[in-house]
Amino acid sequence: MKRTPASYLPPITLQDREEIPIYQQLYDWFRRAITGGQLRPGQRVPSTRNLAAELKTSRMPVLGAFEQLLAEGYLEAFVGAGTYVARSIPDDTLSRPAEKARNGLQETAEKRGPRRLSRRGVALTNLPAQSWLDNLGAFRVSLPALDHFPIGVWSKLVARHSRRPPKGIMAYGDAMGYLPFREAIAEYLGAVRGVRCEASQILVTTGSQQALQISAQVLLDPKDRVCMEEPGYPGARQAFLTVGAQLIPVRVDHDGMNVAEIIRRGRDARAVYVTPSHQYPMGMTMSAARRMLLLNWAARSGAWIIEDDYDSEYRFGSRPIASLQGLDTDERVIYIGTFSKVMFPALRLGYVVVPKDLVRAFAAARDAADIFSSTLYQAVLTDFLREGHFARHIRRMRMLYLDRRKTLTNAIDSQMKDMLEVIGAEAGMHLVGLLPRGANDVAVSRMAAQRCISAIPLSTCYLTLPTRSGLILGYGGANSHQIRDGISKLRMSVQRSGER
Ligand SMILES: Cc1ncc(COP(=O)(O)O)c(C=O)c1O
Repeated sequence: MKRTPASYLPPITLQDREEIPIYQQLYDWFRRAITGGQLRPGQRVPSTRNLAAELKTSRMPVLGAFEQLLAEGYLEAFVGAGTYVARSIPDDTLSRPAEKARNGLQETAEKRGPRRLSRRGVALTNLPAQSWLDNLGAFRVSLPALDHFPIGVWSKLVARHSRRPPKGIMAYGDAMGYLPFREAIAEYLGAVRGVRCEASQILVTTGSQQALQISAQVLLDPKDRVCMEEPGYPGARQAFLTVGAQLIPVRVDHDGMNVAEIIRRGRDARAVYVTPSHQYPMGMTMSAARRMLLLNWAARSGAWIIEDDYDSEYRFGSRPIASLQGLDTDERVIYIGTFSKVMFPALRLGYVVVPKDLVRAFAAARDAADIFSSTLYQAVLTDFLREGHFARHIRRMRMLYLDRRKTLTNAIDSQMKDMLEVIGAEAGMHLVGLLPRGANDVAVSRMAAQRCISAIPLSTCYLTLPTRSGLILGYGGANSHQIRDGISKLRMSVQRSGER
């Protein structure tokens, strides 16, 4: 028979009372666990020897209990293959007590009603249920072309670092991150993004989301005001809400965030969150004049600028735009980047470039949160960067995404010209299709999700009443067939939502 590994056992507590012999306590425990559904049919149980050692008792009572359970058909043994909960016990009779307990809990929860959360907890759960994120179908935002990822090279590098790992890969590491990785990031950012920094200023994070959260924790107090792009990135909004910040929406136009509005309305703002290289979600680039205006304002007012540079590796028409951080002479910019789009999101590696005087505070906040990121993947990615695989991968993906973007805009042009107005298609891995005025983008996205299409409603990116409705469409992870098919399903979704 196929060998099954021994599974986890719920804790067994034996009482030291002499009137109930150990073998009886064990027998009762196993019977209850089997009929209660905590041990499932076919689940392997530990050997009598291991169980006796674990319970610090002699083997005799364990043997006695097992013999009884075998005789009554609760357990079955296979020579040389171990002892199992009998497969012949019908699953449904077993699960009844567990089900009853579950139903009981549900009833109590219903009677009790919602329990009190903190104001921040309530604010965090104010987003609508996002059924469009339940599938990885066409137009899923932030999904790269995973089937084009050089997995062969990657797995060789993983194997290289895992075969005989030095202590440093497996032990606790530096809260700021693995030094060779930080050196490689600093070199890359200096060369490609015009970021001015040393490796000592790089804090490696679990994606840019954690970078945002740590920045919020270090820089903001409850009720501090933060200027946010409107529409803007909901992930940033969530991170700032966790520290109780007050969010001030500032409109974006064709030149990016409206800095004059920040100067007018955000006089006492502690920070500004901005995506200047590629505004999320609308896709424009912040003009040079506004960049200078924003930096000057921050220097005068003492506010921080949190620059989220999440996907600027992918620009199609022009060369990447230099970062705000590189223009900053007052060390006001906290620069955040991620490997989620250029590598893959589940890697969960990102970074913050921290002004020198804030390094200690950022390191302490990271240490308090989750200490540090997996060293193995930092080491693997260091080699991936240093050995040229990263630059090659980006070059290939740029060509591929250029192609996919063209397929998408052509498909929209031929199938949805009257329904979607495309904006923001010059960079990144997504564009926005504006719906006709009055259309309900949440309803369209819900309809599309039922057809396994993932389109984010633009209205979810607004803090105030949305001025336009639309769909954010990612094209990184869908091939040309999926894109065309996806657009015809999207057309049907728009039509159906209009009929309701
Ligand atoms: C504006 C913006 N910032 C950051 C990210 C990436 O987040 P993370 O690095 O946590 O995966 C995304 C992903 O969609 C994004 O749209």
